[in-house]
Amino acid sequence: MKDCPIRRPQPPKPAPRPDKVSLLAYLRLFRRDILSAQPARLYRAWMAEFRTPFFRSYLCNDPALVTRVLNERPDDFPKSNRIREGLAPLLGRSVFVTNGEEWKRQRRIIDPAFEGGRLKDTYPAMLAAAQAAVARMPEGEVEVEEAMSHAAADVIFRTLFSIPIENQIAAQVFHEFRAYQRTQPLLNLAAFLPLPSWMPRLHRRATKRSAALIRGLITQLTEARAAEIAAGTAPDDLATKIMTTADPLTGERFAAAEMVDQVAIFFLAGHETSASALAWTLYLLALHPEVQEEVAEEARALSEAPDFAAVARLRRARDVFREALRLYPPVPMMVRENRCPEDFRGRKVAPGAQIVLSPWHLHRHERLWANPDSFDPDRWQTEAGRLSSREAFLPFSAGPRVCSGAGFAMVEGPLMLALLARAFRFEPIAGREPIPVAHLTVRARAGIHLRVFARPA
Ligand code: HEM
Repeated sequence: MKDCPIRRPQPPKPAPRPDKVSLLAYLRLFRRDILSAQPARLYRAWMAEFRTPFFRSYLCNDPALVTRVLNERPDDFPKSNRIREGLAPLLGRSVFVTNGEEWKRQRRIIDPAFEGGRLKDTYPAMLAAAQAAVARMPEGEVEVEEAMSHAAADVIFRTLFSIPIENQIAAQVFHEFRAYQRTQPLLNLAAFLPLPSWMPRLHRRATKRSAALIRGLITQLTEARAAEIAAGTAPDDLATKIMTTADPLTGERFAAAEMVDQVAIFFLAGHETSASALAWTLYLLALHPEVQEEVAEEARALSEAPDFAAVARLRRARDVFREALRLYPPVPMMVRENRCPEDFRGRKVAPGAQIVLSPWHLHRHERLWANPDSFDPDRWQTEAGRLSSREAFLPFSAGPRVCSGAGFAMVEGPLMLALLARAFRFEPIAGREPIPVAHLTVRARAGIHLRVFARPA
């Protein structure tokens, strides 16, 4: 007799808005979150044009257009100034917001710290953070977004500055970032909003105060590290590597203030995103207990303190993590601005338009993926899945401006999942289905609540 497939619920997806709405209704939806402010046709369209009173924007789902913007001519599609305006109080001129020669120089200094070989040196600190996350995980009902934020922040502090999240300054930075996000939840959405370009400059006073406090704390960390480097007593971690690397073209190192900008973005980009991805992955595993058992089984073959090579062999955990990144890309949309007149699928695009690339829509595009809304980690081992991923999988962006921490995150995610699934079982809680919303990253409107059971040793 043929086995009946078990039908699992589809992972949650926000309800789209009606095709036509007034500008006021659009703004209101936008304030709630950018995902439900979009019409359903974006899951089928190759491109969509939005006309607003202040600028035009074009959402590109056509893989050829995405490649043109990110890979072929990235210098002609710089990051929008609207993004920089919104993020300046916290990030100054960090690599995330700069363009042109300034950005290229910053990447030349930062990239060596994240290269494959170097990741191996960073790995022991990552492992220590994953073991601490297992030791910290309570049983019973747990809000896992919060737990994963804590874990991912711990990874960043340990790998960057060789300090755990319990360190006094690290704990303060973590705490202040939460306050910052509460005062400025629409932070990087300024670029999408159909408002005049001076609007995003209106930072609230609380946001500025919070940003100044965070930068003060980070300054203490970088000054202490500069002194250790000078004394020859600095630990061999990411901060030391970045602060001692000279630009191969100019021989310059980062000035102290510039290093503060970079640490701020490493913390923000490196912990919010990983936390979001890990929390959604745990939810998907809770919805699919058979897959959860496979991840746990694979992890049981690891030693108590698995080495780097063993983590690289965690195929099931990696496929599950990728599938979670597909369904819930932590960075749901990215914005660029075109410098030259462009022809997009026969439509003339004047310079200065906002070009929106949407991992959220690409990853669930009905013409680019089979069963786009289903959780199916097996797809990563099929030819069709690989083909779709080459055309339409952008969780870390692509081209020269690809996420600096992509390799780092692809070790951190499977490692964390494997150790957690080996130690605990996760179950969904009836009536508490998380609703995805996008503010800074893709989060759940009221958190992700799971029931956690310790597995027998
Ligand atoms: C699952 C985890 C992560 C995801 C999904 C992710 C995703 C992304 C994406 C989509 C971008 C491009 C944004 C844009 O162009 O507008 C980006 C940029 C960046 N990410 Fe990540 N990221 C992750 C983890 C990390 C980690 C762990 C670090 C560092 C420790 C990091 C550091 C950065 C930096 C520095 C940039 C700016 C690169 C540039 O503009 O040149 N990210 N990330």
